Amino acid sequence: MAARKMLENPISKKIGESVLPRPCPVPASSAEAVSIPEQKHKNGGPKPAQKILELKDMPGPWPSIPFIGTSWQYFRGARYHNMNMYKCNEDKYRRYGPAVKEEFQWGKPVVQLFDPEDFEKVFCKQSSHPIRQIMEFVVHYRRNRPEKYDSPGLANALNEEWFRLRNIITPVLSKPRAIKFLTSRMDSVADDFSELLRKGRNPDTLVIDNIQDLAYRMALEGVYMMSLDARLGCLDPNLQENSAASDMILSVKLLFEAFHELFYGLPLWKWYETESYKKLVKAESLMYEATSRQIQEVIEKLRKDPDDDEEGILRTLIKKNELTDQQLIVSVIDLLSGGIFTVANAFSFLVYHIATNPDVQEKLYAELTSVMADSEVTNERLDQLRYLKACVKEAFRLSPTIPCVNRILTQDMVLSGYKVPAGTDVFCNFNVAC
Ligand code: HEM
Repeated sequence: MAARKMLENPISKKIGESVLPRPCPVPASSAEAVSIPEQKHKNGGPKPAQKILELKDMPGPWPSIPFIGTSWQYFRGARYHNMNMYKCNEDKYRRYGPAVKEEFQWGKPVVQLFDPEDFEKVFCKQSSHPIRQIMEFVVHYRRNRPEKYDSPGLANALNEEWFRLRNIITPVLSKPRAIKFLTSRMDSVADDFSELLRKGRNPDTLVIDNIQDLAYRMALEGVYMMSLDARLGCLDPNLQENSAASDMILSVKLLFEAFHELFYGLPLWKWYETESYKKLVKAESLMYEATSRQIQEVIEKLRKDPDDDEEGILRTLIKKNELTDQQLIVSVIDLLSGGIFTVANAFSFLVYHIATNPDVQEKLYAELTSVMADSEVTNERLDQLRYLKACVKEAFRLSPTIPCVNRILTQDMVLSGYKVPAGTDVFCNFNVAC
């Protein structure tokens, strides 16, 4: 109800209109009777479907050049050079329609999807071991260090190995008791973050110049606490250089830059250590040091006190005894790198949408003051914050934190009227479709 009211809110609607692209040009359709867009969007949009076309007929940028495919679009002087990915994808959608074929390195076809019905087909037809692009550069780094890693980790494992890790880790993460156990600890992270925000304001304007950096520190502290049952200290306003916390902040910054550069750049790291790859090496080794030290401490404590009945995620994983120490470390590193950017960006989008919708802000304030007689956060109080929950969901809808999810098809599929063969890389672009 609260979410619907928020959707009806004229300011929210206005923001939505400015943030969102026009509605998908494809009408709701069944798998076989879909509309097929023209090669270029001329004279008012797509023609009705006539027959299922082949992947080679799917519209997209042209020409495809040997070795680099159509990635020339991102080169200096070309259309998408230095443009953010959202804008690039929105432009592709407007130019070519709901399914777009590009060709990346070695001319490998990659399909960009923008129609939620296609997303549904892709996710419904994936097997119990979904196949997705892994970060080859991370796997390369870890496989070359067998003394530290006996697995590429949950986020980069495939098939049986992924399935096993997932079945061990996910139930621990999603156990309601584990989540409830974290509430008071997260509350102390939130208190420190509020204090840091207060201190970070410009005293004259009360504006925080760079909330993104503070949000990364908050997310790092929160995810570290969640994964390792311990505080790191990166919300300390007087953070010391060379402390464990500042090393971790540095590693997050390097990781962010390295992921971006290695993901979108040419894979030269396969032949020599590029600058971006060196950033990855530094970030991974800093994370490894911090994580392994902490895990070792907890293992020692548990050895001394086997009756310890604390509920934390790390403790539960150690007690389950299904992961080697190396797998524990790599799993925690993956939780840290999977959690930091997502939580920080989700938070930033949420406060942006609340800040730009004053009436939503008022309602939220009213809910918070009525439920929270004092500042203590409890599970019972969280359950009553229904408008806040609706705001979080609405912010996810307006600005999806993860812009797209990738799958490699395991069977032939008809997507937006084109036959896409098994083995093709498809990207479901939520942010353009939402
Ligand atoms: C706003 C918060 C978050 C969002 C929107 C989000 C979203 C996602 C998405 C879309 C995926 C890819 C799923 C797929 O390919 O099917 C993913 C994977 C993953 N996320 Fe998150 N996530 C969030 C928070 C977190 C947090 C807090 C952690 C860790 C504490 C985390 C750890 C991971 C890991 C380890 C994976 C890889 C899982 C696998 O490959 O099986 N995420 N997340």
